[in-house]
Amino acid sequence: MNLTWIIVLNENVRLITSACPDPSVITPYGCTDLIMMFVLNQNVRIITCECPDPSVILPYGCTGCQYNYIECYGDNDFDLAEMFKKLSQTLEPEQKHFHRFKFSNTNVTEIKANTFMDIVFSQIEISYTNLVHIHPDAFMYTYNTTDTLYIKNNPQLEPDTIYDVMSRFTNATFIEDYHNAKFTMMPANAFSNSKQSKLKRLHIWSSETTIGSHAINRLYSLRDIMFGAPVNHIMANAFTIDRPSNDSLDINLNYCWLNETSFEPGSLTGINRPTAIYMGNQHTNIVYLS
Ligand SMILES: *[C@@H]1O[C@H](CO)[C@@H](O)[C@H](O)[C@H]1NC(C)=O
Ligand SMILES: *[C@@H]1O[C@H](CO)[C@@H](O)[C@H](O)[C@H]1NC(C)=O
Ligand SMILES: *[C@@H]1O[C@H](CO)[C@@H](O)[C@H](O)[C@H]1NC(C)=O
Ligand SMILES: *[C@@H]1O[C@H](CO)[C@@H](O)[C@H](O)[C@H]1NC(C)=O
Ligand SMILES: *[C@@H]1O[C@H](CO)[C@@H](O)[C@H](O)[C@H]1NC(C)=O
Repeated sequence: MNLTWIIVLNENVRLITSACPDPSVITPYGCTDLIMMFVLNQNVRIITCECPDPSVILPYGCTGCQYNYIECYGDNDFDLAEMFKKLSQTLEPEQKHFHRFKFSNTNVTEIKANTFMDIVFSQIEISYTNLVHIHPDAFMYTYNTTDTLYIKNNPQLEPDTIYDVMSRFTNATFIEDYHNAKFTMMPANAFSNSKQSKLKRLHIWSSETTIGSHAINRLYSLRDIMFGAPVNHIMANAFTIDRPSNDSLDINLNYCWLNETSFEPGSLTGINRPTAIYMGNQHTNIVYLS
């Protein structure tokens, strides 16, 4: 089985041919033919990937092709770790870096430790699932590779491990937590992994009402942090970042539920960089800050 890539970039034409994973590994999980076209900066890139026989990942409700993406939809229960173990055993080392992993299956409730083995992704999106638990060691190899992480619309997902998981993505530049009903607090020291030094944009937009102390203190490159409703309590040193910078930080608190008692004394100290705080459109009127 051959995988043919046709890449037209900067007026050069390159043909790259490599092997697809053994279909007996991915078709049971749902690998299909894939044709993608991108138009980027006026360069046209056409990638054609033919994954021959969909029989490893289809029965599990997943589609995909190496170098590119794996998406899991559907409502059937399956062992995600088992699928990735088979992929790991089948793929060549250079085939183990996918562009994207999207998980939107509505039956699976857990992502277990080391599920993805040595398979890595540039982007991960976990959205519209009924997941209850994500093990803190779920993403071992991809923790230092993934650039963008979305965790969105997972109404059953328990928050107990989630900030640990998010803070272990040391190569991430953008993380979005959006509409996960059970995330009610951004805990103290939420992002305290000093190796997570590339994170520029962070969106905390679930049901968090409280921002804990030192929540972002090791996010030295942070330029933009955005909160959604219903934040109403900001603890002392919530925005402290313990390494000074001349790069500015935007703290967006628009559309929250702030009032004059929401800010603990010292909640805006120690930010250590030029900072703009946006507090428009509150659900309550702020008369003064105590
Ligand atoms: C979950 O998957 C199992 C087995 O695939 C199935 O029997 C069950 O009905 C599914 N549940 C839901 C809520 O879809
Ligand atoms: C990424 O993490 C894996 C597993 O923890 C490790 O083997 C690898 O050396 C790390 N790579 C980099 C570039 O740090
Ligand atoms: C980290 O992400 C960047 C893109 O932001 C990527 O170019 C780089 O290869 C990634 N690092 C690793 C070790 O995968
Ligand atoms: C910020 O800029 C000033 C003036 O250029 C410089 O003296 C200072 O060292 C810079 N601070 C940091 C943390 O880069
Ligand atoms: C301010 O908000 C807090 C938390 O929502 C609430 O308990 C308190 O009553 C509010 N205070 C005023 C003056 O509205």
